[in-house]
Amino acid sequence: MPQIYDYPEYYEVAFSFRDIPSEVTFMERCIERFSRIPVRRILEVACGPAPHARQFVKRGYHFIGLDNNRNMLDYATYKWRAVNPRPELIEGDMVRFQLPGTVDFAFIMLGSLYIDSQAGMTSHFDSLSRCLNPGGLYFLDWCIQHTDPLAKGDSTTVLQERDGIAVESRFDIRLVDPVEHMYEEIWTLSVDDHGRHRTFEMHERNRAILPEEFLEFVDRRSDFEFVGWWKDWDLDQPITTNDNVGRPVAILRRL
Ligand SMILES: C[S@@+](CC[C@H](N)C(=O)[O-])C[C@H]1O[C@@H](n2cnc3c(N)ncnc32)[C@H](O)[C@@H]1O
Repeated sequence: MPQIYDYPEYYEVAFSFRDIPSEVTFMERCIERFSRIPVRRILEVACGPAPHARQFVKRGYHFIGLDNNRNMLDYATYKWRAVNPRPELIEGDMVRFQLPGTVDFAFIMLGSLYIDSQAGMTSHFDSLSRCLNPGGLYFLDWCIQHTDPLAKGDSTTVLQERDGIAVESRFDIRLVDPVEHMYEEIWTLSVDDHGRHRTFEMHERNRAILPEEFLEFVDRRSDFEFVGWWKDWDLDQPITTNDNVGRPVAILRRL
């Protein structure tokens, strides 16, 4: 079965529910409030088609995207070919990476912290620590499981449509290992591309990052501090209990 990440245009339609300019404005607000350094160079970890790249460049930042999928990077390179200065798109694994130079702000979207072990997490944060300047923020969207992933119950289905391409996504989740908090997410996409039908199925094994464990993890590190976490991208809604969290964001700061 083909992989959806090898078809970036379908992936983009599936996630076209986002308001990208507003998301960039929100990240700028977080920078203003919490960053201890001026921000010029920005890194997106697991950037895929780099949907935020143009907005960041338009606002005067240098954008660097890291992803391990060549098709995604080629697609982003082509899509943003007229953006000046060009986003820098780098092929690499988020578990262990190096950048040419440093950045002042890093972010990761849509729970893309696909790391299945504690050693992998340590290696990811070591890599980030080497390239994020002290005082800079790491912004994590939907990466911490404040609510039990299985509590959503049956599968959820989302339909998105753009430019004659309709993509129906169905998300199912099952517990693989309760001790290690390992889950398997099954993402089934039915694509109707101007009357041509295709189906994709993605199986992803992920380790749920639970809030307490994440705080302990950050606490044990000497190079990051916890700044806060909020419900639904709203700085007026700090997370105090794990009820009704929706789409959480968390922010760390490099010490
Ligand atoms: C859900 S998509 C997010 C794409 C983009 N950030 C966005 O907001 O639309 C996840 C991305 O993570 C990438 N990815 C998965 N595992 C990775 C890894 N180990 N290192 C780097 N990128 C990875 C995939 O290729 C895919 O482009």
